[in-house]
Amino acid sequence: MANLTFLSLVLTLLFLLNFQVRNAHKLGPKFPYFDKIYQFGASKADTGNLIRENPSGSTLCARFPYGETFFMNATGRCSNGLLIIDYTALSAGLPFLKPYKEIGADFSNGVNFAVTGATALPVETLAAMNILSPYTRTSLHVQLDWMASFFNSTCHSNTDCAERNANSLFMLGEIGSNDYTYALFQGKSIQEAKQMVPQVVGAIANGVRRVIQFGATRVVVPGNFPVGCFPFYLTGFQTNDSTAYDEQFHCLKDINNLSIYHNEHLQQAIDELKTQNPKTTIIYADYYNAFLWILSKAQLLGFDVNSIQKACCGIGGNYNFNMSKFCSMPGVPVCPNPYRYISWDGIHVTQHAYKLIFEWLMHNSLTKLPLHF
Ligand SMILES: *[C@@H]1O[C@H](CO)[C@@H](O)[C@H](O)[C@H]1NC(C)=O
Ligand SMILES: *[C@@H]1O[C@H](CO)[C@@H](O)[C@H](O)[C@H]1NC(C)=O
Ligand SMILES: *[C@@H]1O[C@H](CO)[C@@H](O)[C@H](O)[C@H]1NC(C)=O
Ligand SMILES: *[C@@H]1O[C@H](CO)[C@@H](O)[C@H](O)[C@H]1NC(C)=O
Ligand SMILES: *[C@@H]1O[C@H](CO)[C@@H](O)[C@H](O)[C@H]1NC(C)=O
Repeated sequence: MANLTFLSLVLTLLFLLNFQVRNAHKLGPKFPYFDKIYQFGASKADTGNLIRENPSGSTLCARFPYGETFFMNATGRCSNGLLIIDYTALSAGLPFLKPYKEIGADFSNGVNFAVTGATALPVETLAAMNILSPYTRTSLHVQLDWMASFFNSTCHSNTDCAERNANSLFMLGEIGSNDYTYALFQGKSIQEAKQMVPQVVGAIANGVRRVIQFGATRVVVPGNFPVGCFPFYLTGFQTNDSTAYDEQFHCLKDINNLSIYHNEHLQQAIDELKTQNPKTTIIYADYYNAFLWILSKAQLLGFDVNSIQKACCGIGGNYNFNMSKFCSMPGVPVCPNPYRYISWDGIHVTQHAYKLIFEWLMHNSLTKLPLHF
């Protein structure tokens, strides 16, 4: 009898706890909180748009082992599991963000407009520079048009839109690294890629202005990663010239310098936007230093020190990455323990690394946001 009472008490507590977790965003602090998130960007944030844009299954991140760790299925996320946007949604007490291209999806808590392979500059602008965007035409500009038509059909007026977005979070990126990647892998020099920076940053700044027009009060603008540390670049720009690599992490200095240059311009643009929009909270998210922190603490964080620059899913070479045989192609093996790897497929990071990046951002870049982890 006593045992039975105890059991029912435990069950009641479990029920209440479950209720509380499921309703955390309703029971949590009244203000400030988020009830919606709108995400723009490319493969580091796409939760299923590209695979719906191009449903043949032949595109990037469309097949197993993508998704193997969390979803047990390829959802279109370019990792083995959750992305930064998923951790953001979780810590705001919201459901995972649905991709805009999912027909009939519930967008009451926001929309994900990010598309794998997307560029900050319109594909026509890139084409005029002889740069091809091979995977999608849905650049940032098109994603912003998607947002405009979404709000056009869901808000009754401009003021209604502003009221609805008082508790929304807008995530603008990371975007822009594909513009440089396509340029460099299609034969442009670092110097030529650097000349693109003001235009790329201008496109992102325009994006910030546009979401503010729809009532955004909180905008996060991430910078680029140190992609010179990623297997994809380390393989593509492999050289016997040891001075091309930095001594601490063995990353490609010139490539990282391009990311630094982009990030400096982006932060300047954000400072100007802040001055012009004093009522809006605009935050730079320092993805660059979040990633370097993981590299510097790799062993402590449980990563295999011999595989820091190797892809988990790949088919050999110095960085376990091969341009002609990507992850998810037939015969490409997966490492037995993705928790020991930073890089998932050579271009994107593992769920475990994304989680650690998110935690670093929470403590260093996103401290002003009502997120809990
Ligand atoms: C796997 O993901 C695809 C694409 O999102 C979806 O169509 C399919 O229903 C999913 N399968 C399972 C078993 O969840
Ligand atoms: C917004 O909706 C109106 C009427 O439904 C339409 O005429 C207009 O073109 C739409 N604008 C955009 C940007 O979708
Ligand atoms: C690097 O040096 C090795 C021999 O020392 C040579 O076989 C290889 O082609 C060189 N690689 C490059 C990228 O120059
Ligand atoms: C990085 O770029 C700046 C100018 O953009 C240049 O002055 C500097 O020497 C570069 N550093 C490296 C390590 O390439
Ligand atoms: C990539 O794989 C091809 C065979 O599919 C091989 O010829 C080539 O050497 C590999 N490249 C690297 C960098 O390992």
